[in-house]
Amino acid sequence: MSEHQIRLTTRDGQSLNFACADGEDLISAAARADIHLPALCKGGGCGACHATCTGGDFHLGETSRDALSDDARQHGGVLLCRTYADSDLEITTPYDHGHISFRPIPQRTGTVAGLEHIGGQTVRLVVQLDDDPELGTGAEFDPGQFVELTVPESGLTRAYSLANTANWSGTLVFLIRLHPTGQFSRWLKDTANVGSRLQVRGPQGAFVLQDNGTRPRAFVAGGTGIAPMLAMLTRMAEFGEGNRCRLVFGVTRASDLFALDMIDTLRADLPALSVDIRLWESDGSQSAGTPVDGLQHWLTEALNSDIYLCGPPAMIEAGERAARDAGVPATRIFSERFLPT
Ligand SMILES: Cc1cc2nc3c(=O)[nH]c(=O)nc-3n(C[C@H](O)[C@H](O)[C@H](O)COP(=O)(O)OP(=O)(O)OC[C@H]3O[C@@H](n4cnc5c(N)ncnc54)[C@H](O)[C@@H]3O)c2cc1C
Ligand code: FES
Repeated sequence: MSEHQIRLTTRDGQSLNFACADGEDLISAAARADIHLPALCKGGGCGACHATCTGGDFHLGETSRDALSDDARQHGGVLLCRTYADSDLEITTPYDHGHISFRPIPQRTGTVAGLEHIGGQTVRLVVQLDDDPELGTGAEFDPGQFVELTVPESGLTRAYSLANTANWSGTLVFLIRLHPTGQFSRWLKDTANVGSRLQVRGPQGAFVLQDNGTRPRAFVAGGTGIAPMLAMLTRMAEFGEGNRCRLVFGVTRASDLFALDMIDTLRADLPALSVDIRLWESDGSQSAGTPVDGLQHWLTEALNSDIYLCGPPAMIEAGERAARDAGVPATRIFSERFLPT
């Protein structure tokens, strides 16, 4: 069996090398070398392992079009969990070296400390982590990251973004949309209570706030895609960052709105923040249109922004296209797709 050499260059210009056997996907090959790259479903369905191949020959296994669009594929985009090397390869990642882990992802346990409906089909779930003999009491993560939550009785596991920031008390806050036929949704609706136990695997993911000097930032969210944006904006407020920033938050109709109190708190704490709420089916109470309409409007004022997009895949693709068409370089566009996990 032949082996190929893979050279991975991270967004901040650092290099890593590992070997990949014929027929082995790149995520597994890297893990064999104790290099744990961001990944989630490992089946071509979630997009968490997205990267770009800049040199060499490879073939791709089956991938979902939501996770890897035709457009991304044409620009060298790959999903590393479905990429098989046919020669030595050069890969560039959309994340920095600091978001590669060289040890297994932490596993912890916790208890539901709060569960409330906050508007539309959305619940706010608060989980209190147990003390961990190695990791201590606190919750350490970068704003924008997610964890996997597992219901111990059934093994049901789903990924959810953290809506708060790292803290010493070990508190995790999530904003979760209840899907009518969803299994985790049903557990939250029918079974979960304050005191229910959960397993927590993370933090994971490389969709995080990037240091960008004083450049403006646009945060564009569809539905509960606002969760990681709230974490990033809270971090900006905690650090007193003065970058101009816009939050564009879109839902279908006014009755779907939620988290407006959290947005108001951020407005007060972060004077450089402006907010644009968009309703697809407008009743006149907010601006009409999609979050991408809001992004296009902002780009006429602040073209040199970093763009953060989170929510359904169709919104993200449209947002990426709008930003690219306006001339924003691909290196300043960051996204997280909320695909079924
Ligand atoms: C990195 C990451 C972070 C995420 N963070 C969040 C978050 O912060 N908040 C949040 O609400 N969700 C988030 N999700 C989505 C979440 O992981 C689940 O997919 C979602 O909660 C549905 O789980 P379920 O078990 O209720 O539905 P499932 O039983 O998995 O699905 C049942 C049916 O519901 C519908 N459905 C499920 N998920 C979606 C979806 N995302 N969009 C449209 N239809 C869907 C489909 O018709 C599906 O067939 C995230 C996903 C990823 C990959
Ligand atoms: S981990 Fe590769 S697409 Fe999900």
